[in-house]
Amino acid sequence: MKPERANDELRTARLALRHPVASDLEAVLRIHRTPEAVSHNPSDAIEGQAGAELLLQRWIDHWHRHAVGYWAVSWRGDPSVFGFCGIKVMSLHDRPVANLFYRFDPCVWGRGVASEAASVVVEWALARSPALPVIARVRPDNVASARVATKAGLSRAEGLDTLGEDGLDRIFVSPGWQQI
Ligand SMILES: CC(C)(COP(=O)(O)OP(=O)(O)OC[C@H]1O[C@@H](n2cnc3c(N)ncnc32)[C@H](O)[C@@H]1OP(=O)(O)O)[C@@H](O)C(=O)NCCC(=O)NCCS
Repeated sequence: MKPERANDELRTARLALRHPVASDLEAVLRIHRTPEAVSHNPSDAIEGQAGAELLLQRWIDHWHRHAVGYWAVSWRGDPSVFGFCGIKVMSLHDRPVANLFYRFDPCVWGRGVASEAASVVVEWALARSPALPVIARVRPDNVASARVATKAGLSRAEGLDTLGEDGLDRIFVSPGWQQI
């Protein structure tokens, strides 16, 4: 099924993705205080409301600043948000890149949700900003995350691995990284 696209919404066969809003605070906090959801990236863990507010405001500000960002993800026809997936503009080895992010409530894991969301996000990101390569930074033990990056069309780029906030990050890049 061809993804549907509007300025502020993406849709796949099963999922609806929209810009984050203030009322997503509960979902941000719930997911980021769930130990399994941050086990590979403990620096992303959030304990309390203030931390979640700060993070959510940062995500909303990123959209205003860059016209791209993270999407709140739910099932089509059910507005309950169970995860977030999107891109953040950052620098990798002194090159501007779009860093792919995905984090979902464990209650939906193992059903292809992350792969479906990440695929439409990568497609949208490359169409929206063709000059900005999409990358994923994956912790070495995070097999599911590496698989999601690959299924979203990214390839392993061993020479680009970097040290992140939680240790070594394995880098995956979108097609044409060298040419962009
Ligand atoms: C990584 C994450 C997004 C995967 O979400 P998901 O919806 O379960 O992923 P999918 O169902 O699309 O599965 C993707 C692939 O990973 C595989 N996979 C899922 N969980 C796995 C696990 N624990 N171990 C090994 N492979 C796993 C699936 O089998 C699938 O591969 P396949 O299609 O070849 O069978 C989810 O586990 C998560 O939110 N983790 C915490 C946040 C995180 O680590 N984000 C990435 C770094 S910021």
